[in-house]
Parts: sequence; structure tokens; C-alpha cells
Amino acid sequence: MFGATGYTGRLTAEALVRRGVRPVLAARNAARLADVAGELGGDLERAVADVSRPETVRATVEEGDVMVATVGPFVKWGRPAAEAAIAAGAHYIDSTGEPPFIREVFERYGPRAAAAGTGMVTAFGYDWVPGNLAGALALRDAGPAAVRVDTGYFITGSAGAGAMSGGTKASLAGVAATPSFAWRGGSLRSERGAARRRTFRVRGRDRSAVAVGSSEHFALPRIHAGLQEVNSFLGWFGPLSRPVQAVSLVGSGAFRVPGVKTLYAAAADRLIKGSTGGPDAGERARGGSHVVGAAYDPSGKLLAEVHLSGVDAYTFTGEILAWGAQRAAAGGLTGAGALGPVDGFGLDELEAGCAAAGVGRVDPG
Ligand SMILES: NC(=O)c1ccc[n+]([C@@H]2O[C@H](COP(=O)([O-])OP(=O)(O)OC[C@H]3O[C@@H](n4cnc5c(N)ncnc54)[C@H](OP(=O)(O)O)[C@@H]3O)[C@@H](O)[C@H]2O)c1
Repeated sequence: MFGATGYTGRLTAEALVRRGVRPVLAARNAARLADVAGELGGDLERAVADVSRPETVRATVEEGDVMVATVGPFVKWGRPAAEAAIAAGAHYIDSTGEPPFIREVFERYGPRAAAAGTGMVTAFGYDWVPGNLAGALALRDAGPAAVRVDTGYFITGSAGAGAMSGGTKASLAGVAATPSFAWRGGSLRSERGAARRRTFRVRGRDRSAVAVGSSEHFALPRIHAGLQEVNSFLGWFGPLSRPVQAVSLVGSGAFRVPGVKTLYAAAADRLIKGSTGGPDAGERARGGSHVVGAAYDPSGKLLAEVHLSGVDAYTFTGEILAWGAQRAAAGGLTGAGALGPVDGFGLDELEAGCAAAGVGRVDPG
């Protein structure tokens, strides 16, 4: 469990221990690791590893292990863990939500992992597991006539979008400076973030959402032949969706001016620090999530819509990472190379895993 001293790594380690698994806790700070081990019951194995010394990360994994990585932002600090898992012949599961890193795992690391015979499941947290599940269920319900699938992510409850961990803020800041992508006409296209906007009907109310790059664009075409279009939407911004779209448009232009992107990244580094914790158990309990998957035919007619609902994003992330790690360790991750949540674990198994992690199918209402 690499990143065990961070907010998400700690939640994941806790969930693993609750499931009867004994994770090796890894991070860069020995004293903090000892604290976490103590809080989790004392005698868990620990490994000090720092991404600025990749050989220390490599030393944490052996063939047949499962590397769970939550050290982010991944575009900055994610590569040593991915490299280490491939070199060791270990399965790899990470918590990134960052579109450029997801793309890198599918396009760059995937073929190397396939050659090494290991599985890599990127973005295996709230970003972007429930959308993969909702989209896959909608495609299964719709049948072969479906050529397009849209997924939408919404926050429910009273915690609000302000309840973000320091790590999430740091990762969002990094991603704003990079281009995104979408699946169009049966292939992956680069596209600026928030290029599209649409509304979804959620619990009887129209809610606005903006387009975002996710793992659905890589993973859903693998499980549904003939899929022409995949769109993923983030509804966190609510009524601010239109301004977010405008900012993204201005930002994408500004980032083409030499030096602006570098200046932005430097400012984000100064202003937004990771490891500042996240919502406590009480705040998490007040939050919730709602995810929609909708499948369409070539004329744009809705064929099937699936709604999932449940716990807040962080609770889900810790629980589903633990579920995935435990299953992968038990041989439940099938195939090699970069895998999506559904082709990696199986649709029925993933639905059961998500329900156990607190997010399950509900009536659209
Ligand atoms: N997919 C999702 O839905 C989802 C949900 C939650 C989080 N995330 C992502 O997961 C990542 C972690 O988030 P978080 O909130 O847990 O962040 P965090 O609290 O900042 O934790 C980051 C972890 O990385 C470690 N770390 C930092 N620099 C390191 C280095 N040089 N070498 C080794 N370890 C290092 C930190 O160690 P120290 O304790 O020593 O600083 C800490 O253990 C972020 O990228 C976030 O966006 C995604």
C-alpha cells in the first residue's frame, strides 16, 4: 500500500485490515509509517520508499504482489510505482483521477505490462469506477443497438464539493493545465477539458455537468463492440458548469502562450499542497454520490439508463481499492496489460464489489 501515510492510502489500508488483509505499508516517512501501523493494530510490515529515489519504490514489490498506489499527483509522482510494478511482475492498482496519467497507463505502460504478464488497473477509485459500472450496465441493458454511452457523476448530501482532500486539490490543479480527450467515431481524440456540457435528470431534478477525460473512454469500447462515442461528465460544479466551461476555454488558449503553462504549474505548486488531510468520518457521512450511465442508438434515442447511488467519494475510494487489491491478490484480476474495471474484474463481480463498497443500483426516481 504505497502512500499509506496519506489521506486516501490510510483509508485504503484501514479497509484492507478490516477485510482481514495484512498490507505492507509503504511511504517516504518512517515515523509517519510507524504511527499509521500503530493505529491500524501495530505489527504490519512497513517499507520506506520515496519516488525521488525510484529504486526504493522498486524494492517494495516482488513478483505476484499487488501494488496499490495512492501517491499523487500522478502526473508528477505516479511513474515510479507503475514502473516498479511492471519490473517486478506485480499487479498494479492506482487511485488517480487525472486524465493525462490514465492515458499514459493505457497507451504507454499497458503494452509493457502485457509483455510482463501483469495487470494494471488505473483510476480505480470514485474516479472512475462507478461510471464504468453504470455505463457497462446501461450498455448491457441496451444491447448491440447502442453506439454511444454517457456517464455523469454527481455529489449528493450536505458535505458539498468543498470537502476535498489536499491530494485531490493538488491533482486537480495539475490537470487544469493539460489537454483532455474523448472517444469519438470509434477512436480516441484529444479534446480540451469541459468541451461539452449536458444535463442529467438526477432524483427528479435536471443537473448540469461538463465533459471530462476518464477511464471510461478507454475501457468501455473494449466491452461493447461498435461503440462509437463515449462521454464522461462531472456534475460537481452544478450551476457553475457554464463558467467552468468558459474558464477552461480561456485557460486552454492561455496555456498555448509560451511560459504560461509553466507559470501556472509553479503557482499551483506553491498554493496547493498535498497531504493536508481530507474530510473526517463525520463529513464523509454527510456526503453521498449519484452516478448515471445512459446508452443511445445511432439516432440519439435513449435505450437504457442506469443510476447508482451511495456513499461519498472518499469512503468509496478506500473501500473499492481494498476490494480490488484483495481480489487481484486472490487471482480475480484477469488478463494482462492496462485493464478497465469491467474487463479486469468482470461486470457482475464489479457490481457486487461496488455495492460492498457502498455504491449500488437504484431506481432512477
Ligand atoms: N480516484 C479518486 O476518486 C480519488 C479519490 C481520492 C484521492 N485520489 C487521488 O489520490 C492521490 C492521493 O490523494 P490523498 O488525498 O491521499 O493525498 P495525500 O494525503 O497528499 O497523500 C499522498 C501520499 O503520497 C505520499 N508521498 C508524497 N510525496 C512522496 C514521495 N516523494 N515519495 C513517496 N511518497 C510520497 C505522501 O507521503 P507523506 O505522508 O510523507 O507526505 C502520502 O502518503 C491524489 O492524486 C488524489 O487526487 C483520487
